[in-house]
Amino acid sequence: MNLKYAITSLRILKISGLYHLMKDWQVSVRIHFIFAAYESGLLKALNQPCDRKTLIKKLEVKRTELLDALLEVGLATKELAVKNEKFFIKGKRSKAILGADGDMLAAVIQASVTYYSDAYRNLTARMHGEELGENLDEIGDIVARFSKITEPIIKEFLASLVRDKSPMTVLDVGCGSGFLLRSIHDINSNANGIGLDTDKAVVEQATNNIITWGLTNQFKIHHGDIYSLSEKNGPFDLISLI
Ligand SMILES: C[S@@+](CC[C@H](N)C(=O)[O-])C[C@H]1O[C@@H](n2cnc3c(N)ncnc32)[C@H](O)[C@@H]1O
Repeated sequence: MNLKYAITSLRILKISGLYHLMKDWQVSVRIHFIFAAYESGLLKALNQPCDRKTLIKKLEVKRTELLDALLEVGLATKELAVKNEKFFIKGKRSKAILGADGDMLAAVIQASVTYYSDAYRNLTARMHGEELGENLDEIGDIVARFSKITEPIIKEFLASLVRDKSPMTVLDVGCGSGFLLRSIHDINSNANGIGLDTDKAVVEQATNNIITWGLTNQFKIHHGDIYSLSEKNGPFDLISLI
């Protein structure tokens, strides 16, 4: 049954708050579907319409009933559709995840289902003194991927600071993906400097990005905090901490 129809029909039960809660729940089901479809490779596999048998093979599925359940949720949320026994992607969000900016959108979903869910799930016990668990560092690479979303806004602000300055040496503390360094270089090609991060996985991501962007002569990525730098690394014209 169509999920939207099922939720609408709950109105007749006249249980105060139920309809609104179910509307919210519908959003949560969609987020969880997209998470599972992304992580399992289903979204990628459906870049081309695919029948069930091909999906089982492509995704190396051993428990086919779970794939069937996932496909059903995909259909119910209208993220997927099926025609002539072939499944394809219908929903705007799932389509966007396969698009050019998809990696950062996928990272938003991954953070929401993993880190943020865990934080709320464990909050009560932790408030009562249970050991604090995983911290943000453990999803540093996911945070670094989704915080690139802010790039266009930050770029405007950066432009006013770095345009026409030559030379321009930058220290980016907590550099994440390194996108800030790239933005600075886009605005001012004289810019050079250092990206610093305490998270090993993030440092790896930033280092790879700097290589991909062809900026290895301009920027170095360091693993560590501010105390890991020496005086000879500076001075800096701009220090960012975002
Ligand atoms: C919210 S993220 C922001 C990343 C990046 N600046 C951006 O806007 O995408 C904060 C980053 O700071 C790093 N970090 C936290 N404490 C740090 C410290 N003491 N020194 C350097 N980096 C740190 C984290 O590992 C994380 O990658």
